[in-house]
Amino acid sequence: MIEIFHISKKFFDGEKPVIALHPTSLRIKEKEFVIIVGANGSGKSTLLNVIAGTILCDEGKIAVDSNDITALKEHERSRFIARVFQNPQSGTASDLTIIENFRLAALRSHSKILRIGIDKKFVDSIRERVSWLGLGLEDQLNRKMGALSGGQRQALTVVMSTMDDFKLLLMDEPTAALDPKSAELIMKLTSRILNQMPVAILMVTHQTKQVLDYGNRIIQMASGQIIRDLDSTSKEKLTLNEIIHWFD
Ligand SMILES: Nc1ncnc2c1ncn2[C@@H]1O[C@H](COP(=O)(O)OP(=O)(O)OP(=O)(O)O)[C@@H](O)[C@H]1O
Ligand SMILES: [Mg+2]
Repeated sequence: MIEIFHISKKFFDGEKPVIALHPTSLRIKEKEFVIIVGANGSGKSTLLNVIAGTILCDEGKIAVDSNDITALKEHERSRFIARVFQNPQSGTASDLTIIENFRLAALRSHSKILRIGIDKKFVDSIRERVSWLGLGLEDQLNRKMGALSGGQRQALTVVMSTMDDFKLLLMDEPTAALDPKSAELIMKLTSRILNQMPVAILMVTHQTKQVLDYGNRIIQMASGQIIRDLDSTSKEKLTLNEIIHWFD
């Protein structure tokens, strides 16, 4: 269970304060796949950044399974929180091979002193995970990450984000840079992660079709606030037209 209580964030753009997030509360349970929609500038990324610890909130509290993480630095939160960004280049190191990137991912929340070697057992486990994608990349684990397409790279980033323990996966427009087929792969992969692991997912997207096809809860943000929060039953009744009118 992720509990967000009364968190807020103000930025100062020159002299003028910008309220990116009004005091906001939210509880996310295990197995929830929450999709966040909202106009540009409505505070979606700020909410994710505050949860991840990329920026600290001005007030409020964030807890994961009763552990208060509000004061923890971003890297200290990584055993609770995994992340995938919009830009496929963000999550991985271009100069390292696929397998080396996986090794780094496996070390994410562990002490860097704890060494996980690239032995046969490790390679076999990565081959198995990468084969989920159906892209044939399991036979190319020694290729440099920088030589892959954005779609291949993002798919690997999502698999990598699951290498270590976490409770909440934050995804900020993970398919925005991808073609429709790669986007579909990322959405299917995300659903699979949710089915197989005891976690929750919080995903921002601007693609209305994804909102209808995926997730079991929808939140709409506007002007730094949550203005709609629909559970799976209400979500099932939604039409594309209704969602479009939310933005009127
Ligand atoms: N570092 C910053 N400094 C100043 N203002 C900021 C900063 N980050 C965000 N803001 C402002 O906070 C508000 C919310 O921004 P945020 O990035 O959270 O929106 P968003 O909903 O993610 O938008 P988009 O759909 O365009 O990604 C905006 O008005 C934005 O200009
Ligand atoms: Mg954003």
